[in-house]
Amino acid sequence: MEKLFDYNIFLIGFMGAGKSTVAKYLNGTYGMRVVEMDQIIADREQMSIADIFRIHGEEYFRKLETALLVELQSQSNVVVSCGGGVPMREENVQAMKKNGRVVLLNARPETILERVKDNHDRPLLENHKSVDYIAELMEKRRPKYEAAADIRVATDGRSAKEICEDIIRQLRK
Ligand code: S3P
Repeated sequence: MEKLFDYNIFLIGFMGAGKSTVAKYLNGTYGMRVVEMDQIIADREQMSIADIFRIHGEEYFRKLETALLVELQSQSNVVVSCGGGVPMREENVQAMKKNGRVVLLNARPETILERVKDNHDRPLLENHKSVDYIAELMEKRRPKYEAAADIRVATDGRSAKEICEDIIRQLRK
């Protein structure tokens, strides 16, 4: 299979923006190896993300995220599905830029709510599942997301195939 890129692709964006879905598609169609950050952290800690937040606190989780990103600098042609909070730390953005391009997936708050409403492994949204809450947190994060992004892709109403083709087209420009 053709190797798509000689750098890593970091998918960033709000919870439910479609990072995991896009990563899976890039794996299935182009054979890119996937790093699902939340999954790796949960496996290593042997507990769910919700339990890590509850037992150790958010700061502990954020440190694990940063350490994992630093590890990934030595890899290439990997697609990394980042946790939604990753771009909030400047050191994380630096680590992603070392050997990667940063792809921002956008979705409207209504779309996000629809995608996350039945999921209970997102401590920051538990008991806050409303369009208003999501819109507010999204606005708070937007400047950091925008600053980190090399390219931007809208995901509302689009299939994984369409989104990935858009990503590839923009990155090859
Ligand atoms: C978070 C997003 C989650 C997970 C954690 C915190 C965030 O990942 O890392 O619950 O701060 O936005 P997803 O974006 O994959 O849901």
